[in-house]
Amino acid sequence: MTRFILNDTLVESTATPGTVVLDIVRYHQQLKGTKIGCREGDCGACTVLVGELTAEGVEYKSMTSCLLALANVEGKHIVTVEGLNMEKLSPVQQAMVDESGTQCGFCTPGFVVSLSGCCMTREKVTEDLAVRAIDGNICRCTGYKSIERAATSLAAQLAAKDVQDPIGWSVQNGFLPSYFAGITDRLQAMKTDVTRSNNEQPSTSNGIPLSGGTDLYVQKHDTMHHAPVRSIFNDEALKGIRIEGDQCIIGGAATAADLMNSAELKELLPQLEKHLLLVSSTSIRNMGTLAGNFVNASPIGDLTAMFIALDSTITLTTSDTPGMTRSLANESRSIKLKELYQGYKQLDKSATELLTAVRFTVPSKNTRFHFEKVSKRTYLDIASVNSAIRLDIDGDSIREAHVSAGGVAPVPKYLANTSTFLAGKPISNDTVRAAIEVMNEEVAPISDARGTADYKRLLLRQLFFAHFMELFPERFTLNELVA
Ligand SMILES: Cc1cc2nc3c(=O)[nH]c(=O)nc-3n(C[C@H](O)[C@H](O)[C@H](O)COP(=O)(O)OP(=O)(O)OC[C@H]3O[C@@H](n4cnc5c(N)ncnc54)[C@H](O)[C@@H]3O)c2cc1C
Ligand code: FES
Ligand code: FES
Repeated sequence: MTRFILNDTLVESTATPGTVVLDIVRYHQQLKGTKIGCREGDCGACTVLVGELTAEGVEYKSMTSCLLALANVEGKHIVTVEGLNMEKLSPVQQAMVDESGTQCGFCTPGFVVSLSGCCMTREKVTEDLAVRAIDGNICRCTGYKSIERAATSLAAQLAAKDVQDPIGWSVQNGFLPSYFAGITDRLQAMKTDVTRSNNEQPSTSNGIPLSGGTDLYVQKHDTMHHAPVRSIFNDEALKGIRIEGDQCIIGGAATAADLMNSAELKELLPQLEKHLLLVSSTSIRNMGTLAGNFVNASPIGDLTAMFIALDSTITLTTSDTPGMTRSLANESRSIKLKELYQGYKQLDKSATELLTAVRFTVPSKNTRFHFEKVSKRTYLDIASVNSAIRLDIDGDSIREAHVSAGGVAPVPKYLANTSTFLAGKPISNDTVRAAIEVMNEEVAPISDARGTADYKRLLLRQLFFAHFMELFPERFTLNELVA
């Protein structure tokens, strides 16, 4: 049985743990405001807010309920559009009306839910943040400008929000219904309910490892609902980002959003947040994890490309108990992330091993890191080709280099020869041009829906130029590089 609060109501669901929240909400609870557009995380019509108890109170994040497993919402608060309704329109709903942000209305609940998340966040809501909150919502009618105006208007109305107590402030000022004020205590009571035994947890040790589900539910949509799952998403032992000595260690269940919000990573890799904005959308980044991206082994996984270039090491842990928290004493081994990939979707990892952590050497003041991606759309699209680079420089020379490339081989590719070639070379046009010759020898793109093999080679060359132009703008221009 899975327990969670749905809007103002406690739900004890006996549905299989792999059932998606979308189906629970629409067909078990008959709340039809949450819409189904694509069932692939692409349109945002099914967006819900998921509140989780933290030391600071309940933290809400938008998620696409079509990819959200019931097992992952145990002990949480799910908010659908019905749970935002009050006697009169909420300021978010009113802004959509005032700015003509809705026409046929199909996408509107998703937009309202995503925007309402701005009332709950501990961040100051800027126009940029409000518009970013709806980057996973698609509308076929309005042309977006009117919806963006609604977001801008909301940002202005939330200027006075108390970021220390956003829920209290939003309830008091009519942005959220009053029942929100009692959710922290109700979730706390559920957490400390000692009448529930571990056997009742909705996860099983021999089930499919399930993190955010954003790859699993897209690829195995028809079978996941009844499949036994082993939910890792909420396992505290696999969360967190910390620095130990010269190593940055990140739990396998850290999401892309966790990486973006990490103060440690902002310090170590100041451009990382900008790079991560190119990965999926806000609601998918709130779900998709590092381990999921690595183990899914897509040749164009963006996080994989970034962490291969960081020369990361992963920890694989064998465990036969559902919660890693209770079993970290189990056997672990470490390998370089680049060595995980043996062939197309073939991994140096047994079925019983979980990817529990990733670590990389903390960048020094002489380290440069950069990521580039080309996709058909700038946002909410997977790459045709991507690439990341880490350079440790010594004056005018490259001391050590690690370069990755996606979409040019059956696996996420560590460009070993290119990396070796760059080490010890001066930072110059000649070095970059010669490195491209080496790079061309070690990639083997194929023609597919994302472009011909020749086109992908060309893209990779341009991305490689872009790395150097972005990292050393004073030394490189495109004209000189292609000359
Ligand atoms: C709309 C949309 C847009 C997307 N855009 C991008 C994009 O721009 N760039 C990009 O790179 N990806 C993108 N993705 C793919 C996806 O979001 C990422 O790959 C994400 O990081 C997967 O993580 P997850 O936690 O959801 O994985 P899951 O779906 O939970 O799992 C993926 C695989 O990893 C296994 N697994 C999960 N956790 C562990 C673990 N700890 N140990 C062992 N095995 C494990 C699962 O069994 C499964 O085989 C997109 C997906 C969607 C739906
Ligand atoms: S139905 Fe389209 S994102 Fe869920
Ligand atoms: S109003 Fe019709 S899809 Fe957005």
